[in-house]
Parts: sequence; C-alpha cells; structure tokens
Amino acid sequence: MMAVAAAQKNREMFAIKKSYSIENGYPARRRSLVDDARFETLVVKQTKQCVLEEARQRANDSGLTEEEVVLAKTIAETPEGENAVQKAVLVLRMREGISSLARILKSIENFKGVVEHLESRPSKKEGMQFDVLVKVDMNRQSLLQLIRNLRQSSSLGGVSLLADNSVSIKDPWFPRHASELDNCNHLMTKYEPDLDMNHPGFADKEYRARRKIIAEIAFAFKYGDEIPNIPYTETENTTWTRVFNTVLDLVPKHACLEYVRSFKQLQEERIFEAHRIPQLQEVSEFLQKSTGFTLRPAAGLLTARDFLASLAFRIFQSTQYVRHINSPYHTPEPDCIHELLGHMPLLADPSFAQFSQEIGLASLGASDEEIEKLSTIYWFTVEFGLCKEGAEVKAYGAGLLSAYGELLHSLSDKCEHRPFEPSTTAIQPYQDQEYQPIYYVAESFEDAKEKFRRWVATMSRPFEVRFNPHTQRVEVLDSVDRLEGLVAQMNTEMVHLTNALNKLKASSA
Ligand SMILES: [Fe+2]
Repeated sequence: MMAVAAAQKNREMFAIKKSYSIENGYPARRRSLVDDARFETLVVKQTKQCVLEEARQRANDSGLTEEEVVLAKTIAETPEGENAVQKAVLVLRMREGISSLARILKSIENFKGVVEHLESRPSKKEGMQFDVLVKVDMNRQSLLQLIRNLRQSSSLGGVSLLADNSVSIKDPWFPRHASELDNCNHLMTKYEPDLDMNHPGFADKEYRARRKIIAEIAFAFKYGDEIPNIPYTETENTTWTRVFNTVLDLVPKHACLEYVRSFKQLQEERIFEAHRIPQLQEVSEFLQKSTGFTLRPAAGLLTARDFLASLAFRIFQSTQYVRHINSPYHTPEPDCIHELLGHMPLLADPSFAQFSQEIGLASLGASDEEIEKLSTIYWFTVEFGLCKEGAEVKAYGAGLLSAYGELLHSLSDKCEHRPFEPSTTAIQPYQDQEYQPIYYVAESFEDAKEKFRRWVATMSRPFEVRFNPHTQRVEVLDSVDRLEGLVAQMNTEMVHLTNALNKLKASSA
C-alpha cells in the first residue's frame, strides 16, 4: 500500500509541475527562471523521496536491492523508456577463457545487443584466465537484465562483473550533443492563457487558439530543422511596432554600446524593421554568422535546468508567439517581442555570447541548489543587468531593454546599484511583484566573466566540461587521452597565432 501511495503522490507532483501556476497560484507579476528553478528543486526533492520510499517497499516485496529497483524505475521513467538504446562498457573477469567469453557474447546476442569493441588481457587474479572489456549497444531494459545476470553470475557461470558505466543514478544526466535538446522540451506550463485567469489573453478565444497553433511548431521542432516562418497577423505586427518604436527611442541613451552596435547591424540587414516581426530563422542565421549562437523555437517556459543547458550549446530557446494586443508594454511571460528586442542584439556580441554560454556550461551536472543560484545570476545579469560605460551606467539586461518602465526605474535613483559579485548576486532574493529594489552593475562583460569563472570553480561538480564547436558536443574532461588531444589542438592554434604575430611584426618593421 505504501508503494501505491508513494507512486500516487509522485504522479500528483508531476501533474502539478505541468500547470503549477494555477494550482499553486503563481504569485509573481511575471514568470521568472528563478521561481521555476526553486519550484523544480522542491519537486525533485519530493520525487526522490517518493522513489526511495517506493524502492524500499518493492525491494522488500521482490528481494531485489533498493539500487536495482531505483535503477529499473529510472529506466522506466526516461522519455524513451526501456526501448532506448544505451552504450555501455562492461569489464568482466573470466575463469574459463574462451568458453566464458562465448557465453557472454551469446548472451549479448540473445538480448539483441551489438558488440562495438572487445579487448582482453590475462587476469592478474589467481584462478582467473582473462579480464575482458566489452563495449555494447543495447536497449536499457535488456542491459539492466544482463547486468543483473552478470552480478548474480549463476546463469553465466565463471564470469564476474568488475565494473560497468552503463546506467548510473549517481551520475547526473545532461545533454552531451545539441540534438539531445530534443529531449529537453519539458514545459512548466503548456498554454499559459488557458490556465491563468489573469493572463491578458485568457478571455480571448481567438488569441488562445493562435497561441496553440504557434506552440505546435515548437513541439514538432527537431534539431537540424529550419524554424518554420510564421505569417504574423496585422494585429501582431502592430503590437511589435508599438514596442519597437519605444525601444528605438530609449536605446541611444540607455543601452550599452554592444547592444546599440548589434541593434544597428540588425537594422542595416533589414531584420529589425518597425513594420514587421522578424522571423526566428533569419535572426538565427544572423546570430550564427556573428557568434555561432542559433535559436530553437520554444512553446513557453522550459524548466530552468533545460533552458540553461541549451546555452551550453550556444542555443537560445525562443518563444515565437506574440503578447496580447491589449497589453503591449507588459507581458507576464516571455514572448517573441521580448526575445527579439531584449536578447538578440547581445547574443550577437562575442563577449556577451561567451558569458551566456559559460552560464550554460556551468549548469551541466549542477545540483538543484546550484541551478537556483545560476538562475538567479542569469536573472540579475542577462535579464536585468547593468554595466559601467565610462562614468555612466547603461542597461544590458533583456528584461530592461524590452520594457521601458523598468528600464527607466533601474537607471533612476529609486533603486540601489551594487557591484556584480557572483557569490552575493547568486543568493539575492528576487522581487517578483514589482520592479527590483537592487540591480547589479558589471564593470564590463570581460570582468563579469572573470568573476563568474572564479565562482564556478567553487561549485560542487567534480569534473570540467567544454563545448566542442566542431562536433556540437559537450565533452567531459575526464581522460588523459582527451586532454592530450586538446593540448595538441591548442598547440596548433598557438603556432598559427605566433606565425601571424611574426608576420605582422615583419611587415611593420
Ligand atoms: Fe528573457
């Protein structure tokens, strides 16, 4: 009974996760990554507790270890479930040499696994003939069964499993390749106007239907697809024009230099025009040329963890729908006007793009508490950040540059300016009802990055990661081979840089 009750509680919490803004009376004036991260931490904590309780009960009932029950449950709850194909490395010790190996290979074949690589060496253990390393591709359920057989060893006599790296509930999962972001589409809420009575579009059936059509594009999107263009309506373009013209007035005086520069470039390329909403695909192509960032359409807010993970791949998840015409200057959630006017110009700046990516890389494998801290840092920098420019303070946060009310407030004497310092910014409570009483001012993007890197080094993650732009893959720097490869690559770069420097010196001499 206890297991059933725990499973039920678990299901209820997932239901809450899908529409928590209503069930929990989302208190904020607008949706925030910080609140989302906080909520997710709570759900994950409670879910883990339920899983453990359930596992204990099932272990008692079935005679399996708790770890095996949790492992089976983890597999069952992955998006692809038990049919997902998994790569695994098994290290086996064999008493009888070839005959033991034949039994193992037969067993892998029976489970429809594919052996990718096989290596053997004489065992150092007395009475044993070989130690064998086998790399296999196999569906998760079969892999679990095979590992259990190997651990018990009875059905595969003479073989013992020394190690496997197949499925570990201790290792945090995070996307290793940009294509795996296809699995990260966990929305906190699906169609906000349907759920929230205070939403400006709640009573407008036509608006809600439109949002659903646009959201479906994001749900159907897969890595490598071109982002479908949306024929925006006259009403939607009018909403854009109003906000665009306001931003145009405020930019020269209040926006940072980097924003002004990219904004101008977007105008020159006729991507930013007053009369029409730019399409995500054309903006994505512009960003790719400038900094390697690209866009993915998002149907609404993602979980904080998934949103930050995308940044690690220089991918920005952008909404494509437009706020309601009755509320052109305030939207309770991000819409494409906020994304386009607030975020795009700075994502085209190399230094800022690097800063955004570093927040993303720091989030991979981070604990829930650290995700909350990173979300808070993201909020006080990428969304509401200010920076010094000579003796002046300018805005670079997207939430400020796409909302003139808060922009003017943030630069007035009605609020406090504090120097950006990741360790204190990360724990600053976020005011979600009104404008912020405190804003953080960076000396420069370079200085912000330097401080951020020092702070990231204090995080709990026991490994380093790097993004390989050639393969679009995040690499965990945990092997000598990989580090040696990187050193060789950097040496090549250094040779080119030194040659270039020498040539410039020679030509100017
Ligand atoms: Fe934003």
